[in-house]
Amino acid sequence: MTRIVQTMTLAVLIWAPVRPLLAQPAPSADGCVACHADLAEPLAAPAQLFADDIHAASGFSCVDCHGGDPATSDRAAAKDPATGYRGVPTGPAVVETCARCHGDADFMRRFAPTQRVDQAAEYAVSGHGRRLAEGDTSVATCTSCHGPHGIRRVSDAQSPVFPLRVADTCGACHTDPSHMAGHDLGGVPFPTDQLAAYETSAHFEALTVGNDLSAPTCNDCHGSHGATPPGVDAVVNVCGTCHAAFAARYEQSTHAFIFEQGCAQCHDHHAIKAADDAMLAPGSSTCDGCHGEGETGLAVARTMSASIEGLKAALAQTGSLVERARTAGMEMSEQEVALREARNQLTLARTEVHTFDPAAVTQVVDEGLAQLAAIDRAGLAAMVELRYRRLGLAVSVGLILLFVVALYFKVRELDRRLPPG
Ligand code: HEC
Ligand code: HEC
Ligand code: HEC
Ligand code: HEC
Ligand code: HEC
Ligand code: HEC
Ligand code: HEC
Ligand code: HEC
Ligand code: HEC
Repeated sequence: MTRIVQTMTLAVLIWAPVRPLLAQPAPSADGCVACHADLAEPLAAPAQLFADDIHAASGFSCVDCHGGDPATSDRAAAKDPATGYRGVPTGPAVVETCARCHGDADFMRRFAPTQRVDQAAEYAVSGHGRRLAEGDTSVATCTSCHGPHGIRRVSDAQSPVFPLRVADTCGACHTDPSHMAGHDLGGVPFPTDQLAAYETSAHFEALTVGNDLSAPTCNDCHGSHGATPPGVDAVVNVCGTCHAAFAARYEQSTHAFIFEQGCAQCHDHHAIKAADDAMLAPGSSTCDGCHGEGETGLAVARTMSASIEGLKAALAQTGSLVERARTAGMEMSEQEVALREARNQLTLARTEVHTFDPAAVTQVVDEGLAQLAAIDRAGLAAMVELRYRRLGLAVSVGLILLFVVALYFKVRELDRRLPPG
């Protein structure tokens, strides 16, 4: 009998550390899960949520984060300090709990060979991580963003860090004045408007209405774990990772050496609105806010604005000519393609604005105007041909009518000549 008990104990002792490595599904015989599932809230939630947890799917269980003995159904025995039971981790202990596996490259390679293992290292240098190291437990730790239980893959639409849900996850703290109380940003109370401002942005609209997952949410600009995304030395330079053509031009301009906030100096950093040509128009604060009357900066703005407005007017005129010819039945597909190309010049001109060099904008606009002139010539030729065809049609319709009338009188005359009956 003692033999059997000894063997079983030995089996349990071997099995416990080996089980996770074999990546088996969590056995229902897990004493922690079994007991907790039947407890009152909030003690049952961890066990219930665990069914959908990526860790459960990989064969891990409560003890892999909390320690303890899962092989017993006795509460005290399960949490005997001798079993290594750690209780509920808080603050830096949370990060250590996760990093024990997620920072161990050899261990992680066995389960997820392509997954990064630098989350805790990146976190340590982020604003959150540095504050935590100073003893501030109001900052985000791993579980603030991923949850402690029911952790899902980041690609799972229900994960709190899925692109469409990240903003609300960050917002849980960053919109709450009482949570952010006691924090300051360069001497002023820490602002809590980031989410509200972001929700008015072209980025939020592209992401949520346009379903464009390439549009940024909080972590695309701030990094998921580190202070800024990899390869960006400061958050203010993050725009160029996606808007490279704009950044390339801007970086060569006088402004790049003066502006502390980079692109955000004109576009804001959270409430980034769809841009339009009115930003350049006289009276708009984009340039007028800093450049007074008589300054080069303002003259440049006026020139660029006039150039772009000129191209837009020409595009509209040529567009309606092509449209008139097309609805009249003329073959205009070649001109429609050319018109699309000319329209690209307008987009390009708006990019060239970021050189803040009027010659760069004018050059692109002039190319567009030359393309439009060629389309105009083709369009006018089509209208002339149309008039010619219409004249031809009118003549033939006239001749046919004449023939029908003549035929009618001929038939009447024949009718009169025939004897009645
Ligand atoms: C027989 C039932 C039972 C078993 C088995 C059991 N627990 Fe508990 N657990 C409880 C109860 C009841 C509480 C709440 C009372 C308390 O704080 O001790 C609790 C509290 C906890 C807490 C939060 C309170 C704290 O500071 O300890 C954690 C974490 C926890 N259990 C994890 C585990 C883990 C991990 C296992 C398996 C190794 C386990 N439990 C096994 C019944 C159980
Ligand atoms: C991936 C690691 C991990 C696993 C696996 C895990 N926990 Fe936890 N658990 C934590 C952390 C971390 C906390 C601390 C709370 C926080 O940071 O939000 C916690 C908190 C708790 C608490 C305190 C109440 C609460 O919800 O905050 C209980 C009870 C608990 N866990 C029980 C369990 C049980 C039972 C299991 C197995 C079904 C389990 N945990 C699995 C990491 C884990
Ligand atoms: C658990 C609450 C909490 C959550 C969730 C949270 N934060 Fe924070 N965050 C804070 C607190 C508190 C500070 C203030 C630290 C300080 O005093 O500088 C902070 C500071 C910051 C800062 C400024 C830090 C610096 O480098 O100067 C940024 C940027 C930031 N958070 C971004 C985010 C993003 C992005 C998310 C979501 C992916 C997020 N936070 C989620 C609590 C949170
Ligand atoms: C401020 C919020 C926040 C904190 C704190 C945080 N994460 Fe993340 N984490 C994210 C986001 C957002 C993603 C999704 C990245 C993506 O979509 O590519 C992510 C992704 C991950 C991934 C998937 C692989 C990867 O690196 O993209 C793992 C694993 C992970 N986090 C673990 C951790 C661990 C461990 C900690 C604590 C050291 C932690 N996270 C802290 C927000 C956070
Ligand atoms: C016992 C080791 C271990 C511990 C402790 C652990 N994890 Fe994991 N975690 C893993 C492994 C292994 C995977 C990969 C599973 C897979 O890809 O099949 C994983 C996956 C994840 C993922 C999903 C990544 C993806 O593929 O999108 C997240 C998020 C995550 N863990 C967060 C955490 C957090 C937060 C903690 C701490 C509360 C934690 N983990 C604690 C081992 C661990
Ligand atoms: C398009 C990029 C971008 C997006 C998206 C973004 N931020 Fe920012 N954020 C910035 C820039 C740029 C700064 C200014 C950084 C600086 O001056 O060093 C900033 C500053 C911050 C700060 C510091 C305090 C402040 O208001 O200046 C916090 C906190 C913050 N962002 C949180 C968030 C949260 C939460 C989200 C999502 C709701 C978010 N950010 C989305 C680019 C972005
Ligand atoms: C000095 C002010 C200023 C700065 C700095 C600035 N922009 Fe702009 N941006 C403008 C103006 C003005 C427009 C509108 C041009 C138009 O539509 O005629 C614009 C338009 C845009 C557009 C929309 C273009 C389109 O096709 O409608 C994007 C995208 C853009 N900027 C990105 C950036 C990025 C990225 C940076 C930094 C690398 C940046 N901007 C820096 C003033 C600025
Ligand atoms: C992760 C990629 C990404 C980052 C980072 C990013 N953007 Fe965007 N941005 C987009 C996408 C996608 C759109 C929507 C599609 C479009 O209009 O190009 C967009 C739209 C815009 C628009 C509106 C364009 C229009 O047509 O009117 C402006 C202005 C803009 N972004 C400026 C910025 C600025 C300034 C930053 C940095 C603070 C920034 N973006 C950071 C991807 C990004
Ligand atoms: C935040 C303030 C600010 C905004 C907004 C701003 N500028 Fe400037 N700009 C400056 C400063 C400062 C200089 C360098 C001093 C100077 O020459 O006036 C400068 C320089 C210039 C120069 C070079 C002038 C020269 O003498 O070589 C041009 C051109 C220019 N800006 C055009 C623009 C245009 C166009 C806009 C609007 C799209 C604009 N700026 C918006 C602050 C600004």
